[in-house]
Amino acid sequence: ISLQAYHTFGVNVHAEALIEIDTVDTLLEFIQTQPKRPFFILGGGSNVLFRQDLAAAVLLNRIKGKEVVEADEDTVTICVGGGENWHELVLWTLENNWGGLENLSLIPGTVGAAPIQNIGAYGVELKDSFVGLEAIEMSTGEEMVFSAEDCAFGYRDSYFKREGKGKYFITQVYFNLQKQPQVNTAYGAIQEVLQAAQIEHPTVKDLSDAVVKIRSAKLPDPAVLGNGGSFFKNPEIEPALFIQLQANYPKMPNYPASAGKIKVPAGWLIEQCGWKGQRRGNAGCYEKQALVLVNLGGATGAEIWNLAQEIRASVQMKFGIDLEVEINVL
Ligand code: EPU
Repeated sequence: ISLQAYHTFGVNVHAEALIEIDTVDTLLEFIQTQPKRPFFILGGGSNVLFRQDLAAAVLLNRIKGKEVVEADEDTVTICVGGGENWHELVLWTLENNWGGLENLSLIPGTVGAAPIQNIGAYGVELKDSFVGLEAIEMSTGEEMVFSAEDCAFGYRDSYFKREGKGKYFITQVYFNLQKQPQVNTAYGAIQEVLQAAQIEHPTVKDLSDAVVKIRSAKLPDPAVLGNGGSFFKNPEIEPALFIQLQANYPKMPNYPASAGKIKVPAGWLIEQCGWKGQRRGNAGCYEKQALVLVNLGGATGAEIWNLAQEIRASVQMKFGIDLEVEINVL
């Protein structure tokens, strides 16, 4: 079966089977009846690049549900099915004027996939409002509960990208949201949009609108142009290398990172190497944001991967920085 319609890069690869999982029971039935069968869990397919056909059954996470499980004067705790669409969840929180997820508006993909890479944008990360999750351990069928601490979140990183990779099917995610939202307007572009619209006291909806505006201007809509968002992580470099580079590139954007390191935007590095708007066959480096690789129509996974390798080599050559791939490559 073709996976083309089930992931945002839109390359035409095939899997042995596609099984829609809409309840925990359907999942347990798969585990019990086909315990030896290789599987691959897919949410919205917005952070994955398939380089070849999969000799596995694809399990589509379509577990739905959104409910309030606890509330007090200031906060509300919600439980959301792992197969819910992320942006629809954000819209639901906006309707209720709950704060916490508004900066994460318009991120493609599902709720269950969001903790895996600790999605983040415009100064906010999933971990800031995450409380815990429930998952099924695929090797045993056992129900497991993970706290925020268990998830070991980092920048675009968690336990589920490392030791726990491919081992758990995330069924429910719990968030703690604010009833009297304190919006985060620290990100420069957000301030600019709010100022231009003369909004002095932004609501969560105003914040979300600003984010949607910024994202729509910079990032390609996967429904129009196949892509997987940022292809690489923003690298964190040692101060010694930073000082050396800054002498040659005084305009290099930079932000403080953990442990005295300095974060440099990968998009800037890639653009400096001349890649922005370039193409290799049907694969391209997006013209408005160099960190995003795109399928210009009919690209194969290998074509996109080869372009990524070329970009990585030229950034290494020019800056001495090894870019780490952010997307899941199969
Ligand atoms: N820049 C360039 N050229 C480019 C792209 C960026 O010079 O082609 C420069 C910009 O001028 C700016 C800096 O790089 O000074 C940062 O750019 P931007 O604000 O667009 O964000 P980013 O660092 O490229 C990260 C996330 C995005 C997230 C934005 C906003 C990663 C890997 N990516 O991108 O996340 O939306 O910040 O917070 O951290 C994703 O993960 O898929 C994703 C889109």
